[in-house]
Amino acid sequence: MTTPDALPGTAESYWMDTAPGPRWPRLEADTTADVVVIGAGMAGLSTAWELIRAGRNVAVLEADRVAAGVSGYTTAKLTAAHSLVYERLRRTRGKEGARAYARSQQGAVEQVAAVAAELGIDCDIERSSALTFTTDPHQRAMFEAEAEAAAEAGLDADFVTGTDLPFPVSAAVRVGNQARFHPRKYLLALADDITARGGVIHERTRVTGLTEGSPCKVTTEQGVTVSAADVVVATHYPVFDRALHFARLSPRRELVVAAPLPASEAPEHMYITDDMGKRSVRTAPFDEGRRLLIVTGESFTPGTGDSRERFLRLDGWMHEHFRVGATAYRWAAQDNEASDGVPLVGPFHPGARHVYVATGFGGWGMSGGAMAGQLLAAELTGAEPEWASLYDPRRLWSTVREGSALLQQQADVARHFVGDRLKSTHVDSVTDIAPGSGAVVRVEGRRCAVYRDEEGTAHAVSARCTHLGCLVAFNQAETAWECPCHGSRFGIDGEVLHGPALRPLPPRSI
Ligand code: FES
Repeated sequence: MTTPDALPGTAESYWMDTAPGPRWPRLEADTTADVVVIGAGMAGLSTAWELIRAGRNVAVLEADRVAAGVSGYTTAKLTAAHSLVYERLRRTRGKEGARAYARSQQGAVEQVAAVAAELGIDCDIERSSALTFTTDPHQRAMFEAEAEAAAEAGLDADFVTGTDLPFPVSAAVRVGNQARFHPRKYLLALADDITARGGVIHERTRVTGLTEGSPCKVTTEQGVTVSAADVVVATHYPVFDRALHFARLSPRRELVVAAPLPASEAPEHMYITDDMGKRSVRTAPFDEGRRLLIVTGESFTPGTGDSRERFLRLDGWMHEHFRVGATAYRWAAQDNEASDGVPLVGPFHPGARHVYVATGFGGWGMSGGAMAGQLLAAELTGAEPEWASLYDPRRLWSTVREGSALLQQQADVARHFVGDRLKSTHVDSVTDIAPGSGAVVRVEGRRCAVYRDEEGTAHAVSARCTHLGCLVAFNQAETAWECPCHGSRFGIDGEVLHGPALRPLPPRSI
């Protein structure tokens, strides 16, 4: 038994490391608001800010810290170019659907730029093009069709074969007028502006109950309630599920590595490819004469194997293709992909009058979150953008057209629910677990998730996810328990790191 070797780079996101935030108080007493927004990431804070500007009294409740969940670990591309999306949208939602998607997403890019300018936020926002590329010559026709569909949808898009990447590509779609920024600097300033305008923000305030009505009531794990006319659930994966959204969302985890390179060698634009298990590239300001190259990839379902090999593969790719220095950071991002590829933003369920949801942004939560803020603020104040129906979570057409994706998602969940109980990778005894490792082990007939720390002390919690009961698996590179069914994540002592689970894994004595 050996302790796993360290991976390269500091295990923290660049955004978290370079923009520490102030602390907002926990909610300690019952209160009221016009609107409660649950979740203080890009979607939640954008919605709160837009609503306050529209004259609403808003309370934001965050289970952890502001902009410290998915929004603190994104690659922070602000773009309407979401890989190969427009040709598919044109086929499935028609030309108008593709145009609506382009208008709303490009509008979100422009909105973030406008808000940053209006509030004087120094968030390193930079304009550039976004390119989706392939190195496979057989895919040329597909990329030509995508470029044509994106241009037809109204974007500044064209087909190219030359890029400023340090390796050749076979085909690419270039979309101009996109942007990249520092998400924490932007969101922390937005949060400050929300409170300056009379809104309230409460951190370490996990919402565990929601009663719909007039008014609606949300309850925190401390038993405190907030009454409000309207509630927005913007918790990445919805912490409440009244419309089987979990059946329409697939969690996906992606790894990120970052290293400095000379500014003169930094690619000017942002890039993404589905080749090699996905690779996404952008740079950010770093220090004198250098920029930070940020590379994302190795997409996988949480709880399906250790990230260690994936980190090493991604880091190797970065060093092979770019003249970077030593790896400075490594982190991971988590996304939810809607089964039809279009986010779910709007009324929570068919009967919902005062509860709204924003989720399913795929890997595009920065433009998607800003778009959701504009859309939900408009819906709550009586307006309705022409593209609202595109994102409406109640869209019925999708249950027909998404049939195979939905069935696949449910088959995956069933496989994890049943198959993981028989896994041969689960160890037979706690003594088989090496220091610094974790495994699922049966103790007195019960599955326990056991982590042995570097000093040899075992930390044991239930291995049954508190969301819907699938078995968790250990991610050694990130020292966390992960559920493969809907992506909940837990710390070694069972605390919830990422929903939809609301309750921690209970401790077990072994
Ligand atoms: Fe749904 Fe674990 S996240 S069962």
